[in-house]
Formats: sequence, structure tokens, C-alpha cells
Amino acid sequence: MAKIERNDPCWCGSGKKYKYCHEAFDAKIASFQAKHHKVPRRDMIKTPEQIEKIKESCKINIAVLDEIEKVIHEGMSTAEIDKIVYDMTTDMGGIPAPLNYEGFPYSVCTSLNSQVCHGFPSKNVILKSGDILNVDCSTILNGYFSDSSRMFCIGDVSPADRKLVEVTRECVYKGLEEVKPWGFLGDMGQAVHDHAFANGYTVVREIGGHGVGLEFHEDPWVGYNTKRGTDMLLAPGMIFTIEPMVNAGKADVYTTVKNDWEVYTRDGSNSAQWEIMVLVTETGHEVLCW
Ligand code: MF3
Ligand code: CO
Repeated sequence: MAKIERNDPCWCGSGKKYKYCHEAFDAKIASFQAKHHKVPRRDMIKTPEQIEKIKESCKINIAVLDEIEKVIHEGMSTAEIDKIVYDMTTDMGGIPAPLNYEGFPYSVCTSLNSQVCHGFPSKNVILKSGDILNVDCSTILNGYFSDSSRMFCIGDVSPADRKLVEVTRECVYKGLEEVKPWGFLGDMGQAVHDHAFANGYTVVREIGGHGVGLEFHEDPWVGYNTKRGTDMLLAPGMIFTIEPMVNAGKADVYTTVKNDWEVYTRDGSNSAQWEIMVLVTETGHEVLCW
């Protein structure tokens, strides 16, 4: 890292002198690093201007998911959901982030029942009573990214599946409560994992959340098999997702060879996921997208 003099402009782009801006912040980060903690790089700390732009992107993502919530119904195909996401996102001036992302061929991921994530929308997947569906929506607006997902219960869902969906949402909120400056990503991860485990569920190990905002997927990688007081230090200005995939059965998953995207539970048990995007603030956190 380039050495900054105290009277130089701060590295964050605020225009303020370093000594009045991020000098104390850097000292704090260095003190954790000296104790061998994993600490965020400077490029993981968003500036206030970037945060504003990211929030604009989030507005589209939230509006699109709100619309899906209104119109989703038994008898609808997941291809129809894909079309609504594409049309609404582009009408609002955005681009669906999944479309053509590393070859992903649709505007949204729709993952049904034992599908864990990255489900392909299809005209052949018709929602029926008793289904649980994750709709994972991501938007690019003026180059800034947002990402969140919700579960939808179609018609008459069994008490067991309803509970899976509800507990998974609770897991996200338990994790969120742990997000604060100078805490650790592992505080969040353990809270998520403990709540799932206490309810007899497992959490998928291989696929996690991520930093987001300037890119679709940034560092840090966000897992849920971490322990309190470990993993990356949290500092104001970091933005990442909390998006645990919770399985009713075993944690093992596989990716279908058919398209190398769609992930399923190995034992065929159902899986639920909610995803929120959170900003670490000076005093705690702010949910940007849900
Ligand atoms: N939206 C997913 C996430 O939460 C990413 C999906 S990648 C895609 O990180 F290409 F399938 F869209
Ligand atoms: Co995500």
C-alpha cells in the first residue's frame, strides 16, 4: 500500500485530508492485522458516493421482487417470472445481472423445492400447490450491482416446508444481528449455522454469499461454517450478501451435468434460501436489499 502522509488527500476519495478521514480507521485495521485477523482490503470499503449508486441499483431489485410477490401464482411458469424480471428491470433502466453472466442464459434464477440454487427458468416448470420457490434477482444500474432473493410458498404448502422457509429467513436475521463494525464475519456465520442446526437443518457448505456493489461477486466469500471471532474483520463501508441455503436433509449438493449450473440436494430433500445485501455502518448495519 502506498504510504500516505497525514496531510495528503485520503485514499477513499472524500477529498478530506487523510488525518481527518481514514487515518484512525487504518490504524484500527492494522491493530487487528497485527493480531493475525483477516482484514478487509481498501477496495472492499465503499465510498459514500458508491453506496448511493449501489442503493439506486437496489431500488430496482427490490421493486422487481415486490412485483414477483404480487403476481406469482399456481399455474404460472418460471419462464413467465424470467420475462417479468427482464421487462421490469430494463424498463427501469437496469440490466439483469445474471443474463450472460459466465454464460448463465436467463435474467433470474428460479430454484424449486430440492433445487438449491441457480435454477433455470423454464416454460415447462409450472408452479403447483405445495411448491416452494426461490427467486434470486440481481440488477446492474449504471455499472453498480444489487443482489437479493426471496422464497415464495405456492398454494397449500406443507407445515414442514413452511417451517423450512421460515427458519431460513430467521437464519438470515440472526446473522444480520451480528453484523457490526469491528466484529467478524464468523460471528454472522455461526449465528446462521446454529439456528439452522437447532431446527434440525443443515447449511450448504460449498456456496456462500459475497461482497457486491462494484462487481456481481467480490471478496469476501461469505460462508456459514465459520466460528464466532474468526474470519474477516468487518469494517464500515463493506457491503456483502447473507444468503444461506438451508436443507431439510443433508448438506450435500451436486450440480447437474445437464447444464453445469443448476444445484440440487444430493438426498432429494427440499432446500430454502433468502438473500439480503447489507452495508456495515459506523454504528451497526443497514440492509440495502432484500
Ligand atoms: N444471484 C446469485 C447470487 O446470489 C448468483 C447467481 S449467478 C447466476 O450470488 F449467473 F446464476 F446468476
Ligand atoms: Co448473491
